Amino acid sequence: MSEKQDKAEKKVFIKTYGCQMNVYDTTRMADALGGQGYRETSNMEEADLVLLNTCHIREKASEKVYSELGRIRQLKERRQKDGKNTLIGVAGCVAQAEGAEIQRRAPIVDLVVGPQSYHKLTGLVARAEGKNGESELIETEFPTEDKFNHLPAPTKRQIKARGASAFLTIQEGCDKFCAFCVVPYTRGAEVSRPLNQIVEEARLLAESGVREVTLLGQNVNAWHGVNTKEKEIGLGHLLFELAKIDGLDRLRYTTSHPNDMDDTLIAAHRDLECLMPYLHLPVQSGSDKILKTMNRRHTRDDYFRIIDVMREARPDIALSSDFIVGFPGESDKDFEDTMDLVRRVTYASAYSFKYSPRPGTPAADSDNQVDETIKNERLQELQKLLTFQQKSFNKNCLNREMSLLLERKGRLEGQLVGRSPWLQPVQVQAPKNLLGDIVKVSISDIGSNSLFGTLINEKAA
Ligand code: 5AD
Ligand code: SF4
Repeated sequence: MSEKQDKAEKKVFIKTYGCQMNVYDTTRMADALGGQGYRETSNMEEADLVLLNTCHIREKASEKVYSELGRIRQLKERRQKDGKNTLIGVAGCVAQAEGAEIQRRAPIVDLVVGPQSYHKLTGLVARAEGKNGESELIETEFPTEDKFNHLPAPTKRQIKARGASAFLTIQEGCDKFCAFCVVPYTRGAEVSRPLNQIVEEARLLAESGVREVTLLGQNVNAWHGVNTKEKEIGLGHLLFELAKIDGLDRLRYTTSHPNDMDDTLIAAHRDLECLMPYLHLPVQSGSDKILKTMNRRHTRDDYFRIIDVMREARPDIALSSDFIVGFPGESDKDFEDTMDLVRRVTYASAYSFKYSPRPGTPAADSDNQVDETIKNERLQELQKLLTFQQKSFNKNCLNREMSLLLERKGRLEGQLVGRSPWLQPVQVQAPKNLLGDIVKVSISDIGSNSLFGTLINEKAA
């Protein structure tokens, strides 16, 4: 077999945990490895390289990595019996935070690579292929160069294979240092990608058939850059620029911080039809006391004011949020304030979590930790309310007409699944050739996890 053939047959399996930025990073890593002869597989058993793209946000997320590595060790042993080698890599935020710990707890790992070093991944893999497992390869420094300048751009074919909705990271890291959060330590300081780099990538996506782009950042609305006249601009301006790209019919962004909702961004919500009427704006708690100890630097009234302004600018906007219950020092009254905030805002969807102490973060050392049973009770109560609100929002969609971006085939024959402007999955009977199109549907039924629609028009516009 020639070396070329040998190369072409290598396969990589990547398992992604955590946030959408990890999903985006996985695509960039897969694309880069593609250039090195690795084809992506969804079957771990046949992989020559297994890569875990990990999340460190809560304890549970981190621990999953070690149990998965236990299973992978067995896979490696099985494959070894057939004379096949399996390289094992850990990427993502656990790699960044616990590189040395991974080496100690899981010696089978061949390489460890933190999120700011993905441009070094292919080099690491090449070195791992050549070595005999005697030492691990680790890249977890925060390099001074911009990884995006070194990662290969995806090909149109690679983009097409992933469908009509794509992520695009525009900002990474965080300087806000909320007292519960590991992100400043795992993703590093806040960095914005330059305007032209983003516009170029968005154009390439649009030219390859992508109709919807979700801009990503840990603090996406802290994005800043300069325009062609060297003037400082923010996310609002960027959205106005991206809206000009032919073929990009839907724009979204996530995750934003209440303190960075500026006037231009609000104007973008008011003026841009293509900016979807959905905003994920985490508040974490409804108690001023807890917001203060969380170092969120805004009050509940500040949050209410932003919501009012957003609703005025875009009356059909749906809201989503993240909540943490059982943050150190949270009393019954503080929790009641959170419930009250939820009742007043009313959300279309939301994520809620029990506080999980993360090593190295200020709140982890607090003496005021909340009892686990109380955390469980509060989480249940909050989730009950949020689920009720989500169901009410969905019920209100019955008999309404809306646009749908058809993203994938459904489980049943002849069925396609798409997303509404408000991110709800909607199932519809429609011919396969409409995949990737935006169509108009009328909502005919409400299921527990998705809506059902009837096709009205094959073109939404
Ligand atoms: N414990 C629980 N939830 C957390 N989050 C971040 N850090 C923690 C933690 N230590 C939640 C926040 C954030 C979301 C991504 O995860 O709600 O917005
Ligand atoms: Fe998890 Fe945060 Fe890393 Fe995303 S950035 S993978 S949420 S720790």
